[in-house]
Amino acid sequence: MTAGPATTLVRGRLMWFVDEPATAGAAAVRYVEDGAIHIEDGIIREAGEAGLILSALPSGTEIVDHRPHLVLPGLIDPHLHLPQTQVIASPAKDLLDWLNRYTFVEEQRYGDPEIAAAGARFLIDELLRNGTTTAAVYCSVHPASAEAFFAESERRNTRMAAGKVMMDRNAPDALCDSAETGYRESKALAERWHRRRRQIYAITPRFAPTSTEAQLKAAGALAAELPDCPIQTHLAESASEIALVAELYPWATDYTDVYDRFGLLRPGAMLGHSIHLTGRERARLAETRSAAIFCPTSNLFLGSGLFDLAAMRDISPALAMGIATDIGGGTSYSMLQTAAAAHQVLALQGQRLAPFDAFHLMTRGNARAMRLDGCVGSLEPGSEADLVVLDARATPAMARRMARAETLEEELSILMMMGDDRAVATTYVMGERVK
Ligand code: GUN
Ligand code: ZN
Repeated sequence: MTAGPATTLVRGRLMWFVDEPATAGAAAVRYVEDGAIHIEDGIIREAGEAGLILSALPSGTEIVDHRPHLVLPGLIDPHLHLPQTQVIASPAKDLLDWLNRYTFVEEQRYGDPEIAAAGARFLIDELLRNGTTTAAVYCSVHPASAEAFFAESERRNTRMAAGKVMMDRNAPDALCDSAETGYRESKALAERWHRRRRQIYAITPRFAPTSTEAQLKAAGALAAELPDCPIQTHLAESASEIALVAELYPWATDYTDVYDRFGLLRPGAMLGHSIHLTGRERARLAETRSAAIFCPTSNLFLGSGLFDLAAMRDISPALAMGIATDIGGGTSYSMLQTAAAAHQVLALQGQRLAPFDAFHLMTRGNARAMRLDGCVGSLEPGSEADLVVLDARATPAMARRMARAETLEEELSILMMMGDDRAVATTYVMGERVK
């Protein structure tokens, strides 16, 4: 006798998105008060009304009841750094001072495979504890750091994108590859790990100041050879960084033009920060369907500036964007806390991050930025069963506030403004509980 597929039924109040709340309004949201998700071999077969799904359930299905908690697709963090878990909260004047004084020192340790492996174990533990099941990760310049991260992610069966950073100038020698070795090592890692089970290779030129033109050219060539790979880099984060880029690339129209000229803008390109942009640059991101990634706790900590969501949406309401922790410029692993900081950054500019908008970004929006929609970030049938179970009464203060909450929107607002890892009741990876 052969065993049938492993099936699980997860009950709870389900919420996911099928469109953008900012443009489609209520039609973007799926909410099922008495809901159930039928999972078979790690894949969502059906999500909807519990009564209907229970009536057609195969015998032997394990049932887990999370009511009254909310069950959402696992949260997604599209920008963070593996070798920066021990530089969080390092006091510095600004971005470049922080990079030079702390970060470029710490990242040198990640050439040691054991340090990288321990860092990867910690990072994935911490992400899952916070309900984050997918991330786009910058490793250090050392191929061993990416190797360690992918090995750990594969062991946990998590859906992760990562890449070794390419950097060949304006950093300590011990952190520099070359145009040639950066290309070769990245390509070898991509050949070994891209689309191996759940792993995705991300081409990762760190940012324009730490690459020579020869290296950006090599990164562009690699991107052309690997059209399915995402690309991740940093763009227009701080004033002194932008001044440095203007000095290093005098021929470029602006910072965005540097990446554009080397073929690094396209769907699946994720431009971390994207704060200080001109209308021309925003339009170019929209035209190339690249994604601007908002990293609010990092921007507040380093004093980098205020991400202008309204300006992005004025260019194109459908402009791809994401919201991310940017550990370790960022100060929290929690996507809920990240959404709270995003709300604050936008409120200071007279703008709004509505709770539905925030939860859309943390799930379907970030999946789209990473070009992983259809795979994660949704509860639609066929999606991978990565889930987060959120408890809006997790602390006494939240429970007291929830006693007076009347709508789902208020509950989401309480979760994002008051919640953190304590509000994550449990996390599932491919249908298995991991928290
Ligand atoms: N720009 C280039 N590298 C980095 C980094 O590690 N963190 C942040 N926040 N910005 C960067
Ligand atoms: Zn970053």
